Amino acid sequence: MNIDDLPTPLYIAHRGLSARFPENTLTAFNAAMDAGAQMIELDVCLSSDRQLIVIHDDTVDRTTDGSGAVKALTLKQLCRLDAGGWFDPRFEGERLPTLEQALDAAKGRVSVNIEIKPEAVDPRDAGHAVERQVLTLVHDKGMTDDVLVSSFDWRVLANLRRLDPTIAIGLLSEVPADDRLLAWHRGLNAYSWHPDYRVLTRSQVDTLHDAGARVFPYAVGGRIDTRGMLAMGVDGMIVDGPQQMKTVGH
Ligand code: G3P
Ligand code: CA
Repeated sequence: MNIDDLPTPLYIAHRGLSARFPENTLTAFNAAMDAGAQMIELDVCLSSDRQLIVIHDDTVDRTTDGSGAVKALTLKQLCRLDAGGWFDPRFEGERLPTLEQALDAAKGRVSVNIEIKPEAVDPRDAGHAVERQVLTLVHDKGMTDDVLVSSFDWRVLANLRRLDPTIAIGLLSEVPADDRLLAWHRGLNAYSWHPDYRVLTRSQVDTLHDAGARVFPYAVGGRIDTRGMLAMGVDGMIVDGPQQMKTVGH
């Protein structure tokens, strides 16, 4: 789904429908799409053999039956892990998806917010840089208009813009948008600002809108003040569950 054709307020499914399904799995993404999400958010890391894998943490300990750092395991090892049983035994057998599998599931149905995790950054290997690989895959899939790439790591965002003058970029922030951050946002010609909902103010929403940017606050620990965000005039929210989805009118 083209990100310029999306409705407002936009329901962005945080790690898929993560309140009810194991996060960042194809089951969670499909459930979010079935539930009416127009965009799914997912997290991307790199395996030890520098392949794109969808997982939030820098280790596999919390969301799989394995242990150890994501970047210490090969793609083959990662894809053998059980990524569902930790959430509920009925999801045993679920696997960590590759980014390619997640994009294939979303193509033609929803847009995708790809969050590049800072742990995936390795300045010593520019040729296989995570942002370069993400862009190549998105281009190969013909999904450049369907994707919004975000990160807390501003080196990643700067590289994305350098490599691709048009890809939609979202800035993630745990701190309020001050003048310096707003100038950085403008300099990147970013599509959107993604703040921790607890630091967002109405005046920041107004300032970002004046600059032509969308504002998509994200839930923390499953919580977000949905009504407060809507009252500020946000353009959408990155939320975990269907109850929050209903509040935004879906
Ligand atoms: O992209 C918004 C949100 O997902 C950022 O925080 O920790 O849930 O990846 P986190
Ligand atoms: Ca995320």
